Amino acid sequence: MRTLAAGVLLASLAPALQAQPTRTANVGLYTDAQAAQGRTLYGEKCAKCHGDALEGKAAPPLAGSPFLAVWGAEPLSELAGKIRNTMPADNPGTLQPAETANLIAYLLQAGKFPSGRKELSADEAGLKSIVIAAAPPSAGAAAQSQAPFFPAMGNLNQVMRGILFPASNIIFNVQSNDPGAPVKPAPVAAGANPSFNWTDWGAGIYTGWQVVDYASVAIAESAPLLLTPGRRCENGKPVPVDRPDWIKFTQGLVEAGREAYRASQSRSQEAVSDATNQLADSCFQCHRVYRDKRGGAAARCTP
Ligand code: HEC
Ligand code: HEC
Repeated sequence: MRTLAAGVLLASLAPALQAQPTRTANVGLYTDAQAAQGRTLYGEKCAKCHGDALEGKAAPPLAGSPFLAVWGAEPLSELAGKIRNTMPADNPGTLQPAETANLIAYLLQAGKFPSGRKELSADEAGLKSIVIAAAPPSAGAAAQSQAPFFPAMGNLNQVMRGILFPASNIIFNVQSNDPGAPVKPAPVAAGANPSFNWTDWGAGIYTGWQVVDYASVAIAESAPLLLTPGRRCENGKPVPVDRPDWIKFTQGLVEAGREAYRASQSRSQEAVSDATNQLADSCFQCHRVYRDKRGGAAARCTP
């Protein structure tokens, strides 16, 4: 069943990979009437968290440069998916595709992008070929030189066991458990600590899908920890942070975390199950060279 699902996914991805985004929001992607409908809906369902003027409140702004920095260069289909699958955050999955398109029309109008004569269509394939604007230059490089340096505290095994192991287990768990299913109280195994079970973690605070989001973020964001100069492995050897293959394996981990996040945002159990292949592979590629050594623990962290 997994093989079939992966095949279907690949087939549906193929046209998307060929169709590169070609249009931007400068050509008039929506009508004024459509934006007006979006505005009404926004007032009813979004303003309480994102602010009356999209300026951000408890939730991030949906206009201006902070918004464009994240969404400007992404295909519009990504923004539509984000809204349709995860918003409104207090009642997700309730918007119709046409309502989502109307909301985006309003966001474009508020962002001072021109209107046109044709409505923005809710059609996924069409939205894939549009970006809002080209990516703005990043301010990150200038800020970086003044950033404080945080020396390693744990050895690599501790980082792996404390961050990557629990986070990836949450994602692997999606293969057999639907994060969207209603929560049923799980029987507590004899001897288990009921308040400290990784798969139940957060069950009462965050929704199942949010927990999968956060686990994916934890994985993608852990890359700098694998590259912190001065960290040692448990056997005392320095983590080989300068070796090109180590850096490449770390990048593979980041990509796997991003892919898991993308899949989680689609709120599809099957998409996340498929993404676990890439995740497991990213762990395996590095472990094969640097961890699972014939010489045992003493040989770890050298190629
Ligand atoms: C109950 C509060 C709440 C409501 C209502 C709500 N949102 Fe959100 N929204 C959030 C939070 C919190 C985030 C940030 C976390 C995330 O990305 O999931 C967010 C993120 C977003 C993002 C991504 C922004 C970014 O910079 O990454 C978009 C787009 C968005 N919301 C659109 C909407 C739209 C459109 C509606 C109305 C249909 C809506 N939201 C209603 C709380 C809310
Ligand atoms: C860039 C290389 C690299 C990547 C990527 C990586 N690991 Fe590791 N991992 C190591 C090394 C090296 C060790 C041994 C560290 C030590 O001995 O201090 C290790 C150790 C571990 C351990 C502890 C093993 C033990 O002996 O108790 C776990 C658990 C682990 N990794 C899980 C993961 C998971 C899960 C992923 C993927 C989500 C992952 N790792 C990705 C290099 C990597």
